[in-house]
Amino acid sequence: MTTIAVAKGDGIGPEIMDAVLHIFNAANVPLKYDIVEMGKWVFDKGFSNGMTPEAQQTIESLGIVFKGPMETPKGKGVKSINVTARKTWNTYANKRTFQTLYGVDTVFSKDGIPIDITIVRENIEDTYGGIEHMLTHDVALSRRFITRPGSMQVIRYAFEMAKKKGAKRITCGHKANIMKITDGLFLEVFYEVAKEYPELKADDIIVDDLCMKLVTRPDTFDVVVLTNLQGDIVSDLCAGLVGGLGFAPSANIGDHISIFEAVHGTAPDIAGKNLANPTALLLSGIGMLQHLGLMESAATIENALLYTLESGVHTGDFGNKQTPSLGTTDFAQAIINNFGKKPAHNPKLDTDDTANTCTVYKLDKNPMLESNELVGEKIAGVDLFIESNLQPEDIAKKCLRHAGVKFKLVSISNRGTQVWPTGSRFTNLVNQYNARFESIDGEGLNQQDVIGLYASLSGDFKVCSLELLNMWNGIKAYSLAQGQ
Ligand code: NAI
Repeated sequence: MTTIAVAKGDGIGPEIMDAVLHIFNAANVPLKYDIVEMGKWVFDKGFSNGMTPEAQQTIESLGIVFKGPMETPKGKGVKSINVTARKTWNTYANKRTFQTLYGVDTVFSKDGIPIDITIVRENIEDTYGGIEHMLTHDVALSRRFITRPGSMQVIRYAFEMAKKKGAKRITCGHKANIMKITDGLFLEVFYEVAKEYPELKADDIIVDDLCMKLVTRPDTFDVVVLTNLQGDIVSDLCAGLVGGLGFAPSANIGDHISIFEAVHGTAPDIAGKNLANPTALLLSGIGMLQHLGLMESAATIENALLYTLESGVHTGDFGNKQTPSLGTTDFAQAIINNFGKKPAHNPKLDTDDTANTCTVYKLDKNPMLESNELVGEKIAGVDLFIESNLQPEDIAKKCLRHAGVKFKLVSISNRGTQVWPTGSRFTNLVNQYNARFESIDGEGLNQQDVIGLYASLSGDFKVCSLELLNMWNGIKAYSLAQGQ
């Protein structure tokens, strides 16, 4: 029998986890549970990642953790336990399935518009690296990492999952029209992987258009894959389409460890009152059973849940206010009482093993994620971000003095908009400029050249940061300023 780690969490976590495990036990789910110490209460004991070393060891040896919501400790610089867990264990794909649940009224269910959308969100990269700096007193910078191997991992998972699920369409949501290099890379990898799955219709859509279409024609989407922040927002939008976070399961999938959890919080306002709705955690648990290939147990429980919802049974946070609501334990019992019954809509088949996406295997050491493309690399110039409250002309005069024999000053921009040599007097300025220098003769530069320029310029300005302007096989690996 497989053993999984269970972290009950904080607030309503223990109540809803107990309710779900009670349902699992009643259904004779062939799993054993190793309860681990993880959550805000563990953080308060002095474990800064929110788990004891024993908990970490157990989770790492079992490969699956089923977790309740966890409170984010308050305080500057303190990271969320949930995000730390996802990043520590490289659960690179966040999979959330949103399906019409009859009995949970939404504008779409009332109109008979069926929804069955799976969002796969990249879970590690993007602005979630949390690498942020104040460059001047007025200017904050967040680094947004999108990597080729990181994108490859999650996009490949999305295609594999879509194929196993029997999906017809897979869509990449992005903002590559604006973030041409970062989202452009994600989109490029998407179409690269798409070539290996000719049976799936692969297309892409700009994320704002995606949001509009999701709220007008949600039934036209199937599997959607996105970068981290956009995926975060779009998946909560989809939760709203099917009735809210109380009905939104979530799986964080990695090659070695996967985390199954509800996406709502710890609901401190109702904690300990036996009022919480366990549906989201139960749906996440059903996803976990499918992931483990326990399709019969998953189908029995899901059919009973759907039947229960269809028959109007509800907790206090949803459903018909005219009928009395049940507490957490009675709601769980109602589901158990409906084992063996089939819902009128979307009954699940226990023989269907298409959802099995289990990838658990163990490694002593993770390989470096690295793509091994051969590129002719050249440093074509450098962007030096400087602090100043001078006007662009005056900045240029000073910068030109430092260009020397190797560099030429090609542009000065402010918040990404060129303000020298051409620009508009209507462009607002903040006290940080980007002075872009390029090689004077087009020949490649080296790092010493760049450091020389940095040292020279620092005589006149505070240099806040710098970025090399790389060229690969003659192609610019950097963006141009607006108007450049
Ligand atoms: P929340 O989701 O805990 O609560 C928002 C509202 O939804 C509250 O009125 C609450 O009573 C209700 N609610 C949430 N889950 C419910 C359920 N299962 N049944 C019935 N009602 C439910 O969000 P909030 O208040 O912003 O966050 C509270 C704490 O939870 C914070 O410390 C936050 O960091 C943490 N959190 C943890 C998450 C996780 O562990 N994955 C996700 C989101 C928040």
